[in-house]
Amino acid sequence: MMIMDLLLAIILLAVAYVVASVFYPMLTGGAGYTPTPRNKVVEALELAELSRDDLFYDLGCGTGAVLVEASKLCDHVKGIEIEPLRWFIASLRARDAEVILGDLFKQDLSDADVIFMFQYAGRINDRIARKIKNEVRPGTRVVSYLHPIEDMRLVRKRDDIFVYEA
Ligand SMILES: C[S@@+](CC[C@H](N)C(=O)[O-])C[C@H]1O[C@@H](n2cnc3c(N)ncnc32)[C@H](O)[C@@H]1O
Repeated sequence: MMIMDLLLAIILLAVAYVVASVFYPMLTGGAGYTPTPRNKVVEALELAELSRDDLFYDLGCGTGAVLVEASKLCDHVKGIEIEPLRWFIASLRARDAEVILGDLFKQDLSDADVIFMFQYAGRINDRIARKIKNEVRPGTRVVSYLHPIEDMRLVRKRDDIFVYEA
């Protein structure tokens, strides 16, 4: 009986962790977890005109789907993820990328050539956009899936993929 109780408690804790992990990043001001569909990732990277020498970031890289595709086109790929389980999965999946466990708002982005993000419209994107504009070189491309970014120069758009230049 004791073993069954223990097992049940472990299962409940695991389920609670997985549910909480979806929403917990929102406490830091970022988005919860929804992966970008693969066809959209491929389109977004094409629109970003990624080249081998570029340094590519995914801000809030989730389980690493974007990092895997970006690594096929580019030699320098970095992802930042705040949620440990997703960070761990991304590290296993995206072997050619550097996957950083941490808060995107604390990462220095000054070396970026291309930044991908799938966060939320409004306050979150505005805050990230301010950080990007303060840190990156002029001409750095910023690709946002699904949500536009206010106050940044739009250079290309296809459906729900927006490409800006800082
Ligand atoms: C909508 S998902 C996008 C995942 C991935 N980029 C993709 O497109 O498939 C947003 C991700 O950002 C992460 N995130 C939210 N706030 C963050 C923060 N402050 N620092 C790092 N990652 C964050 C979440 O944990 C989540 O995995």
